[in-house]
Amino acid sequence: MSTPIRVGVVGMNYWGPNLARNLARLASCDLAWCCDLSEELLARHRSAHPGTAFTTRYDDLLEDDGLDAVVIATSVPTHAPLARAALSAGKHAFVEKPLALTGAEARELAALADERELVLMVDHLLVYHPGVQAMKALVDGGALGRIYYLYGNRVNLGIIRPDENALWSLGPHDISVMLWLVGERPTEVSASGESYVQPGVEDVVFGRMRFPSGVLGHLHLSWLDPHKMRRMTVIGSDKMVVFDDMETERKVTVYDKGPIPRTETYGEYIQVRSGDISIPKIPGTEPLRIVCEEFVSAVAERRRPAADGRAGAVVVEVLEAMSQSLRSAGSPVALDAGAPA
Ligand SMILES: NC(=O)c1ccc[n+]([C@@H]2O[C@H](COP(=O)([O-])OP(=O)(O)OC[C@H]3O[C@@H](n4cnc5c(N)ncnc54)[C@H](O)[C@@H]3O)[C@@H](O)[C@H]2O)c1
Repeated sequence: MSTPIRVGVVGMNYWGPNLARNLARLASCDLAWCCDLSEELLARHRSAHPGTAFTTRYDDLLEDDGLDAVVIATSVPTHAPLARAALSAGKHAFVEKPLALTGAEARELAALADERELVLMVDHLLVYHPGVQAMKALVDGGALGRIYYLYGNRVNLGIIRPDENALWSLGPHDISVMLWLVGERPTEVSASGESYVQPGVEDVVFGRMRFPSGVLGHLHLSWLDPHKMRRMTVIGSDKMVVFDDMETERKVTVYDKGPIPRTETYGEYIQVRSGDISIPKIPGTEPLRIVCEEFVSAVAERRRPAADGRAGAVVVEVLEAMSQSLRSAGSPVALDAGAPA
């Protein structure tokens, strides 16, 4: 077996420990470091990782010549500076979503990784979810026919963040999945929202993306809602599919429903077809484990993961353009043509 990839996790509050736990379980990975500015947080996790070094100094990771990669699970404004420092020190980097606060910063990180021939991966967790992978296989295999539109519902009465609105906190999940399913970069986006609980921090956002092929994407993001929904629906000309992450045994449902093309026989009426409903078996593997495996194997094989720096940059560009639209009462914002999603 090849030598395990040595990885350090930075940011050990809420999400970082989940990454540390998954990385520590991989035979192909050695969790060499855990880092946080808080001694108290580090103390909480020491016993779970007895062979791991703990530090409050990020530079300890960067100065460790034997360390291959850094996993960044810190607060969002620190993602870009910490990722830049890691790549500049010759370390592969895994960065929590969103990759950066601006498209320019995110593109700069993607370019730096390319220039240094290092792996840069973003935690677009849902792209690696077995249910979303099943949806992608249906879309790419043509089972749904032509894709007309898709929409995501990510709502809850949940954690109300003071420093990040619902768009930036929840949106990266659905935006990354939509870009990946459609395989195109949107040309125009818009978003409307309101801040009901805290001034200036939108708790509910409705976003829209228009793709060059005519596909329309819609997002409903909120942490101020009685329902808990984690759902994505794709409407095709032949079939429709729903991914519902709140379901345990019915993560993906395929509906053989759709319009029948108009024929002379039926005059002016358009017929609809309502056939079987099927539920494919979806493996119950924890998506974060798959994400960690993918990062470690991308580093070992020096290959580009699907959720690479460029994919991360397009998501940030969409978030940035939607934020611009939010500030201008939902006016459409054009996205420059660039690298495909
Ligand atoms: N992929 C997902 O589903 C998912 C879910 C939750 C959170 N996240 C992401 O994970 C990240 C972390 O989330 P959280 O809720 O744990 O954040 P948090 O703000 O609660 O914790 C961040 C931690 O990083 C530490 N930190 C900040 N700067 C540091 C530095 N320079 N050196 C060392 N430590 C530093 C802080 O001390 C803090 O303990 C965020 O980017 C968030 O968007 C992703």
